[in-house]
Amino acid sequence: MLVDCCVFRSRPRPIRTMVAHSAGGVSHVLMLVLCLSAAEDFDWTKNVHSSFYYGTFPSGFSWGAGSSAYQTEGAWDRDGKGLSIWDVFSHKNGKIQQNDTGDSSCEGYFKIKDDVSLMKELKLNHYRFSISWPRLIPTGIKSDHVNEKGIQYYNHLIDNLLENKITPIVTLYHWDLPQFLQEKYGGWQNISIVHHFNEFANLCFERFGNRVKYWNTFNNPWSAAVEGYETGEHAPGLKLRGTGAYKAAHHMIKAHAKVWHTYDTQWRAKQKGLIGISLSGDWGEPVDISNQKDIEAAERYVQFYLGWFATPIFHGDYPQVMKDFIGRKSAQQGLGTSRLPAFSPQEKSYIKGTCDFLGIGHFTTRYITQKNDPSPRGSSSFFTDRDLAELVDPRWPDPGSEWLYSVPWGFRRLLNFVKSQYGNPMIYVTENGVSEKMQCTELCDDWRIQYYKDYINEMLKAIRDGVNVRGYTAWSLLDKFEWDEGYSERFGLYYVDFRNKNKPRYPKASVQFYKRIIGSNGFPNQREVENWKRRAVETCSSSNQLLAADPLTSHMEMVTEIVVPTVCTLSILLCAVFLMFLLRRHD
Ligand code: NOJ
Repeated sequence: MLVDCCVFRSRPRPIRTMVAHSAGGVSHVLMLVLCLSAAEDFDWTKNVHSSFYYGTFPSGFSWGAGSSAYQTEGAWDRDGKGLSIWDVFSHKNGKIQQNDTGDSSCEGYFKIKDDVSLMKELKLNHYRFSISWPRLIPTGIKSDHVNEKGIQYYNHLIDNLLENKITPIVTLYHWDLPQFLQEKYGGWQNISIVHHFNEFANLCFERFGNRVKYWNTFNNPWSAAVEGYETGEHAPGLKLRGTGAYKAAHHMIKAHAKVWHTYDTQWRAKQKGLIGISLSGDWGEPVDISNQKDIEAAERYVQFYLGWFATPIFHGDYPQVMKDFIGRKSAQQGLGTSRLPAFSPQEKSYIKGTCDFLGIGHFTTRYITQKNDPSPRGSSSFFTDRDLAELVDPRWPDPGSEWLYSVPWGFRRLLNFVKSQYGNPMIYVTENGVSEKMQCTELCDDWRIQYYKDYINEMLKAIRDGVNVRGYTAWSLLDKFEWDEGYSERFGLYYVDFRNKNKPRYPKASVQFYKRIIGSNGFPNQREVENWKRRAVETCSSSNQLLAADPLTSHMEMVTEIVVPTVCTLSILLCAVFLMFLLRRHD
């Protein structure tokens, strides 16, 4: 059985809810016969459901873990930082689960040394993080003010990484736009943003480019555009259905190209770095592999996701299927032009080829079937423009986020898709991982071990297929603020105790397992890999004990930090009063 998951939403509702909806008579909930075996026909992924492959990665393959500024740094108003759209959005009532905010998050701003030692423990080759634009330029406009304390913070981080032989991979935009730019110009809805983003990027190249050699302009612009300006689930929370996401994405693509050219013409010769973009994409698999309509719908799903950004960057223009579908639907609505903006011929050639490497963020897969969406005249949205329905197989494991099902074979297919569509570019996997629920204080995360093991193995198979993958980034190093889900979903290799003001980190079992993969540069043989798993799960029980003792430890800390000094001060005061009293009596 396949279950309809999220026809009109970016993120699916839980299956139980969907079944309940279906019982309530919602007709678009589809229950289809699963035809997994039919999927084996793809010629470029013949072994798609093949058994585990033991083998190693090419030498020099880079292993890393990632984070982003707003999700981990905290220190939202410290040392001259300006407000970001996420500071403002998360402070509004009802926008985030439990009204959580990233105000202090993991306190990463104050824990560079601690966190770098966790990375060393993992033997990481690289660390992927992002720079908070308003921490460097509080209003977002460079001529207003550059905050040297912000520069200092990133200098420390970069220097610490390099001292420990960890390569920094830096993202310029991981969603935390300066609030001022949103208020004054409408943020990514306004073309003026291209100039301001370029100024910010140029400042980063100038101040950090002597040490940073890998730059991502954007992280997952799909989410920033769709969830920020179409559904409003993310900051800045605008619901400009049918147009907001397309316009925001249009400006992001232009901004990306401009920054690539700035690096190319002004810095590359001297700094010799690479600049790319990190795009996210779920894989979309046709429900019925023998049905041409489903095959086209699945292709559309991927084109409206990854292709929306990758096609202009590699080929100069939007995917034809997006132009056709959005153009046709706009005409049906009686609009004179398409809701999908167009690039001029000059813009096309300026944008084409602006990618030294492609960052890929990938977490999950959907089954896709054709579904005509006769939206009533006037109503339109990114989701209805695609004419498809997304389905999931309820047997797929989903330990954490509602939208995240573990489907390792989809990863290999997506990587092969990138190879075939964009001329086999150099790829860095910039995000891949799985979450668990907040209530889960279980450090023995064998389901995460399984996820990493299988996804990394599919990546290895893709490399054997000829896909040019150079590095892999586990998402994420730490548990952290998970956007509109607050702290309710934990992606970290390290558990963070958010109840404790010191935000201590505890290794989950997956730390041990990932470390072994890194140490062996892959999967040497079955016996060893099984041993790793067994030992990882054994060692985590002692971390579990430490974590369980944490309330006691924080209580003791409270006693030493507050109670003891208070009692001492009071005793001294009392002694002084008593002495004065004695002296007076003596007089
Ligand atoms: C992609 C986003 O870039 C990242 O910030 C987030 O934590 C993961 N998705 C998981 O939702």
